[in-house]
Amino acid sequence: MNSFFVTTAISYVNGKPHLGHAYEAIACDVLARYKRLSGVNTFFLTGTDEHGEKNERSANKEGLSPQEFTKINSDHFEDMTNYLNISNDYFIRTSSESHHIASKALWNKLVENNEIYIDKYEGWYSIVDETFINEDEIIDGPNKTKLGPSGDKLEWLEEPSYFFKLSKWTNKLLEFYKENPDFIKPKSRRNEVINFVKQGLNDLSISRQRLKWGIKVPNDNKHVMYVWLDALTNYLTAINYPDISDKKFKCFWPADFHVIGKDIVRFHAVYWPAFLMSAGLEPPKTIFCHGFLNINGSKMSKSLGNVLSPKDLVEKYGLDQLRYFLLREVPFGQDGNFSHTQITQRINNDLANDYGNLSQRVLSFINKNCSSQIPEYFELNELDQKYINKFKSLNKSCDKLIFDNLEFHNVLIEIWSCISSANQYIDEQAPWKLKNNNNKRMETILYLLACSIKYLTIMLQPFMPSSCSLILDQLAVENNNRSFNELNNFLSLKPGTQLPKPTGIFPRFTD
Ligand code: MSP
Repeated sequence: MNSFFVTTAISYVNGKPHLGHAYEAIACDVLARYKRLSGVNTFFLTGTDEHGEKNERSANKEGLSPQEFTKINSDHFEDMTNYLNISNDYFIRTSSESHHIASKALWNKLVENNEIYIDKYEGWYSIVDETFINEDEIIDGPNKTKLGPSGDKLEWLEEPSYFFKLSKWTNKLLEFYKENPDFIKPKSRRNEVINFVKQGLNDLSISRQRLKWGIKVPNDNKHVMYVWLDALTNYLTAINYPDISDKKFKCFWPADFHVIGKDIVRFHAVYWPAFLMSAGLEPPKTIFCHGFLNINGSKMSKSLGNVLSPKDLVEKYGLDQLRYFLLREVPFGQDGNFSHTQITQRINNDLANDYGNLSQRVLSFINKNCSSQIPEYFELNELDQKYINKFKSLNKSCDKLIFDNLEFHNVLIEIWSCISSANQYIDEQAPWKLKNNNNKRMETILYLLACSIKYLTIMLQPFMPSSCSLILDQLAVENNNRSFNELNNFLSLKPGTQLPKPTGIFPRFTD
């Protein structure tokens, strides 16, 4: 059986989750559910990134230990996986013992392979981004302060540090990118990374002396590991590294997709493959970088007070409505916008009018006119065949759209084009006109429409799991008949099956 390993970035825990975190988790959830429904052995990982100076300082301010502080906030993120119906198989916390073991093991491997040396670090450091900032990226702030690219105040750091020999990987990384064109997606990000690496890489400082809240460097307790080395290792910890003979590790490494935001490309597409190759491990297959969500056209930020809480949005609009909106509205990979007007339009037009109305109309009609049973079908004419053919290649074309470039919005557009065909078919065939004079034809039309709803709903399960499950219940589709396997046979509903009384699933949204 083939396998699939997908991860989100692990979130910083210096606050509660916002819409950006939810966006990434939902996208990965769709990928994981899609693969499971295709019968693929899937592992989906998400979690929290807990070490580093930022958390140590925030904990101090609140009079908490870093352990207490990070536990409280990590719980908010784990809670988000529940209220967003995220089907992750594992939730990793980098403060966990197994993660410390894995990170130390990776460090030891790098030492063993002569990839680490000790020296002194001097330079400007961004605590907000947990990264050293190159001279050419520094912005002059007021009163001779130095600011990082995200506008935060930089600190001068001077201390003994271990270094990773990143510079020697410059050419090997360029060769690797050339041989693996799918490693960084979308293409624009790939070009950005290649241009950056082409300028030559400097060795990377990978330990801190003044920091306590982190993973101790093996055999040198005075240092803790650079938080990004520790954080990236989470992808290995979750599949039982350092035991590379473990079944899970063998099955799932290299990961298929690390899905991340555009702000952390360099860590994933430059440092991570270099660390892995240095440790004799394969890099992941694809790093996919999505864009940022803005709110009513502005960047989400605490200081602007426009940070949207996914929990509030679920309460206001409904979970599946939010999941659908986020993946339909914004082409994954590009920046996008969240606005009340846009989500309301999507809920009312796409969900209530198009999809919801299709299923409600057909199921109510069957309920009233076919004794609440799946109707029989009789002779199919050319028009019916033409209609059925529209569905034939849908699953295959969506497969390609989703896994080549994570084109969630295009998958939904394809599905909606079949929903429109179904709505057009019902209007043209007008089964209500046949009630008294051609019952067989009426039943045939309704049967084909019920099969279409089943087909479309099976395909939509990864996007809107709860609502689709309710619609499949209304079609009396058994739980074990809901996988993508069912799509091989369009006419799979059994005539005569008793159906429950239908109820509307997608209400209109009114303020
Ligand atoms: N802890 C690091 C990741 C370590 S992965 C080994 C981190 N954490 S984060 O909490 O700042 O971000 C988590 C993810 O959310 C990242 O992929 C980031 O790009 C994404 N997003 C943060 N803000 C976002 C938006 N406004 N919109 C979309 N995604 C955003 O980075």
